[in-house]
Amino acid sequence: MDPPNLLLLLLLTFASTINAQYLPEPFCGSTNFTADSAYQTTLTNLLSSISTTDSLSLTYGFFNASSAVSGTSQTLYVIDSCRGDLTAKNCRTCLEASASDIRRLCPLQKEAFLYSENCIVRYSNASIFSTVETEPNYIMYNHNDVSIQVTYKLGTQMEDLRGEAAGGGSLRKFATRNVSVGSDMLYAMAQCTPD
Ligand SMILES: *[C@@H]1O[C@H](CO)[C@@H](O)[C@H](O)[C@H]1NC(C)=O
Ligand SMILES: *[C@@H]1O[C@H](CO)[C@@H](O)[C@H](O)[C@H]1NC(C)=O
Ligand SMILES: *[C@@H]1O[C@H](CO)[C@@H](O)[C@H](O)[C@H]1NC(C)=O
Ligand SMILES: *[C@@H]1O[C@H](CO)[C@@H](O)[C@H](O)[C@H]1NC(C)=O
Repeated sequence: MDPPNLLLLLLLTFASTINAQYLPEPFCGSTNFTADSAYQTTLTNLLSSISTTDSLSLTYGFFNASSAVSGTSQTLYVIDSCRGDLTAKNCRTCLEASASDIRRLCPLQKEAFLYSENCIVRYSNASIFSTVETEPNYIMYNHNDVSIQVTYKLGTQMEDLRGEAAGGGSLRKFATRNVSVGSDMLYAMAQCTPD
């Protein structure tokens, strides 16, 4: 199975609020580590470093960490990201909550990710830094009707935003846009992890 990856996050909001905490559930990998092993200790330590990492990287909404698993030839990799418009404080709060949730939801799995509205927590025993993968992916629908004009405008706005986000600074690749279409307001956002 491909390691999970979500380098591109697209979140679209039409004026009404999307009311979902997890979209729709965590991904837990298919291979397990042994309870109370060095793998578990390493994972606990890496995830707990979210609370001590300096706030600069969290200001940009990105956190990565890796560590050798002692007594094995393996390395554990962690990538976390927050929406590019969260403060460092809110980013940390979201990541800490998600890290705790993912350990409860995927207690023994070697790789996992949890995708919530404001942040993503992900880890693996395979190198996941600077690699592009698009699986698994999630789509969430807003069931309100919109006009065909809005749908068309959405397509062109997202094309533009994709380039704008990817072309952002080396630390933050995030772009948002609001456009009015008739009497509707269209809000769009695109983000990539900076690595
Ligand atoms: C974070 O990822 C980059 C590659 O994108 C890597 O060079 C760097 O060493 C990583 N940082 C940590 C703490 O592992
Ligand atoms: C891996 O751990 C999960 C969670 O404890 C468990 O549900 C699953 O059966 C385990 N899988 C294997 C192959 O042992
Ligand atoms: C990750 O763990 C799985 C299951 O134990 C193993 O088959 C795989 O080789 C490991 N990957 C790396 C890069 O060590
Ligand atoms: C879009 O609208 C939101 C909410 O009204 C606002 O905070 C934001 O600055 C606007 N502009 C862009 C480019 O997103």
